[in-house]
Amino acid sequence: MSANQIKTVLITGGAGFIGSNFIHMLAEIRPDWNVVNLDALTYAGNLENLTEVEKNPGYTFVHGDICKPEDVKRALDAAGDPDQVGVVHMAAESHVDRSIAGGLPFVTTNVLGTQVLLDACRAAGITRFVHVSTDEVYGSLGDEGFFREDTPLAPNSPYSASKTGSDLLVRAAFHTHGFPACITRCSNNYGPYQFPEKLLPLIIGNAQEDKPLPIYGDGLYVRDWLYVRDHTEAILKVLEEGDAGEVYNIGGNNELPNLELVKAVLSELGKPESLITFVKDRPGHDRRYAIDANKIRMELGWEPRYTFADALPLTIRWYQSNGEWMDRLRSGEYREYYKLQYDG
Ligand code: NAD
Ligand code: DAU
Repeated sequence: MSANQIKTVLITGGAGFIGSNFIHMLAEIRPDWNVVNLDALTYAGNLENLTEVEKNPGYTFVHGDICKPEDVKRALDAAGDPDQVGVVHMAAESHVDRSIAGGLPFVTTNVLGTQVLLDACRAAGITRFVHVSTDEVYGSLGDEGFFREDTPLAPNSPYSASKTGSDLLVRAAFHTHGFPACITRCSNNYGPYQFPEKLLPLIIGNAQEDKPLPIYGDGLYVRDWLYVRDHTEAILKVLEEGDAGEVYNIGGNNELPNLELVKAVLSELGKPESLITFVKDRPGHDRRYAIDANKIRMELGWEPRYTFADALPLTIRWYQSNGEWMDRLRSGEYREYYKLQYDG
């Protein structure tokens, strides 16, 4: 497949954090492409993330569930000529803590939904499929080493196990049917539009209101943080230039223990470290993630463009100037979730 065949991108989960950032990026750097966004609008899906692009002539929203073949068909019909359609699959249940509270929705959307989508896309004959996966499928690292594409899969949470299941189904579709799919595995993202159950927006929101910042365990768990715009550009690279059947790790070489990240946020906001509150650890908490992204750098020429020093203040400023967006998300269901997760 050559990249210039793609005229339409069908995105699943485009109303979520990374999906909406991906659509914003396409509007900016591929303005002539059509975009079909298939999203079920779960608690994590928010059409408000897309108000700036929803009136673009080439944009279509399809409200639907990837587990339902008829919904996927509607989206594929809206996308049109399959020879010109690339699919970017981001729809998922994505929060580890929720998967610990109950794994079933994760298996349903992440595993079953992925198979429904694969079957429909294969039957339609779409030209390219990118499955957006996660570094969590590799499990946890000790103090040394990095996740490479050939690191054995060893997921530890119901979330990461369900993502691993979906990766293997994508792999099988390529191996058995020659389905033109790539898999990406990225580290922790940060940036605008992230649902405030995740660490960074959660602590920015709480710190702004001088509320306690809940830190699991000893706070020395390490994550490899990448600005979301860099991730979306990497996904686009894989969509346009990746080799079918290949896995590409994505990361920015930016490892930080959680405590350091939280202190950086507090310092940027001018808030006291006394807000840090150690709480009960996440069961089965992976100690360290770190990505070796040499393959995508060497083979596709992708490089992250944002440093943490630049993108953290950008991110914080975005949340400061979008207080109403945050308030709306933190009302309703989120309040119940927060109470259950942090108060008992
Ligand atoms: P998110 O939770 O913010 O968004 C998920 C989106 O999927 C929402 O819009 C939701 O409505 C939609 N969705 C959920 N179930 C659906 C269903 N059955 N049918 C249709 N739509 C459905 O997630 P995110 O953080 O943007 O992550 C997007 C993808 O990237 C996920 O596959 C995740 O595993 C992966 N990923 C995330 C990160 C990260 O740091 N956030 C890092 C690496 C990989
Ligand atoms: O690595 C990629 C993954 O990153 C994605 O696949 C997931 O979809 C995404 O949610 C993220 O998973 P994490 O579990 O790493 O992200 P989270 O923001 O939930 O937590 C980041 C770290 O902060 C982790 O070590 C747990 C810790 N944490 C989190 C929360 C919500 C706390 O200490 N306190 C908290 O309240």
